[in-house]
Amino acid sequence: EDGVYKFYFDGEWRKSSSGKTVPIINPTTRETHFRVQACTQEEVKKIVETSKAVQKSWAKTPLWKRAELLHKAAAILKEHKAPIAECLVKEIAKPAKDAVTEVVRSGDLVSYCAEEGVRILGEGQFLVSDSFPGNERTKYCLTSKIPLGVVLAIPPFNYPVNLAVSKIAPALIAGNSLVLKPPTQGAVAALHMVHCFHLAGFPKGLISCVTGKGSEIGDFLTMHPGINCISFTGGDTGIAISKKAGMVPLQMELGGKDGCIILEDADLDLAAANIVKGGFSYSGQRCTAVKVVLVMESVANTLVEKVQAKVAKLSVGRPEDDCDITPVVTESSANFIEGLVMDAKEKGATFCQEYKREGNLIWPLLLDNVRPDMRIAWEEPFGPVLPVIRINSVEEGINHCNASNFGLQGCVFTRDINKAILISDAMETGTVQINSAPARGPDHFPFQGLKDSGIGSQGITNSINMMTKTKSTVINLP
Ligand code: G3H
Repeated sequence: EDGVYKFYFDGEWRKSSSGKTVPIINPTTRETHFRVQACTQEEVKKIVETSKAVQKSWAKTPLWKRAELLHKAAAILKEHKAPIAECLVKEIAKPAKDAVTEVVRSGDLVSYCAEEGVRILGEGQFLVSDSFPGNERTKYCLTSKIPLGVVLAIPPFNYPVNLAVSKIAPALIAGNSLVLKPPTQGAVAALHMVHCFHLAGFPKGLISCVTGKGSEIGDFLTMHPGINCISFTGGDTGIAISKKAGMVPLQMELGGKDGCIILEDADLDLAAANIVKGGFSYSGQRCTAVKVVLVMESVANTLVEKVQAKVAKLSVGRPEDDCDITPVVTESSANFIEGLVMDAKEKGATFCQEYKREGNLIWPLLLDNVRPDMRIAWEEPFGPVLPVIRINSVEEGINHCNASNFGLQGCVFTRDINKAILISDAMETGTVQINSAPARGPDHFPFQGLKDSGIGSQGITNSINMMTKTKSTVINLP
């Protein structure tokens, strides 16, 4: 049957014994575009068992060979960028050019990870005992980095390929096996990506991709005793997973409410360009999107005018036409965004554009004079709606950011580097960008959230380290 995809296990594409499939709704047409297998708990059990067994021999495969396979997968991924990007357009309405960029960035990430892996995993420590009080030089300690076992990767809908490989590549180079549970929207793009790894010739069973309903297999997977590490990117589900997961290392990247503080001496053209790019690219569906602008009152009118002029130029429509603003991922997401807009309207926010929606397509909207009693001042719309709060002091802006339950990134626009650094120090977020919008990349930079935004740190080096344990061998001299 056309448009029905199999899941991937033990080097083969299979149909689920459930006989059931899960529909993937195209956000633009709101019709079923693809179907994926609704895997059962029994299938998950087999996958984890096989992953465990295969991991043992993979860990013994020379590091340079693991790297070689990853380089091969990266090249194949880039070769297949067009069909994978096409899936991203249909499944998650990602604008056509951005979809291609996601795949190319993913190939680069896999190669970089292979290179970084051979370097950092190729080194260990050598320690001597007599530096600690009371010891003679009778003990030599050698350390190396060993894999954790089976890594479970759960990427979100907004980067089904890139945020999958950002977990897969570090896991594999470090000698782990990998079980991927892609998001339903984006699952077919992820299956195509997995096929590139299949073509590269990794051992059977080392990588598996299980699809299905979170309600059916989600808890079973995350609570399975055979899983040794969970790397998750997404929303609130991550908090629930953290509470239920056993004693395994967790890497969690959840939501954000990234604030953008604009000081009086800022380059307002630069700020406006970054606010529009940061707030509206992929229709605001990025955890690192600018989600609240905090601007000093004295420059607020000028800034809002500049932003408004740029918002007016954004194209709105189909991802196939590479429009800037495309339909948001689901109808329920569009309804949620609309709820935030209506709340702001009732409470008196200034609408810089008229609110307009057709199906899942929401026109870009800038809301000025937002106050702290409005939901949009705190909640994450994950859509093309951006609130502006006018502030009378820098402290007011910092306090607003720090009162959030999120702490992913923040940004500040000023020409005064000393002020910028003091603000960065004061902001309770994993990263602060000076004179640019928040962003995760380049993908080797550390990426982490404080508070409800996450656990642990990502970025290529951090992820490789996180997916390993230190092993010591101590030589005791007579
Ligand atoms: O949605 C969360 C992503 O980690 C953001 O990545 O800054 O490259 O868009 P990005």
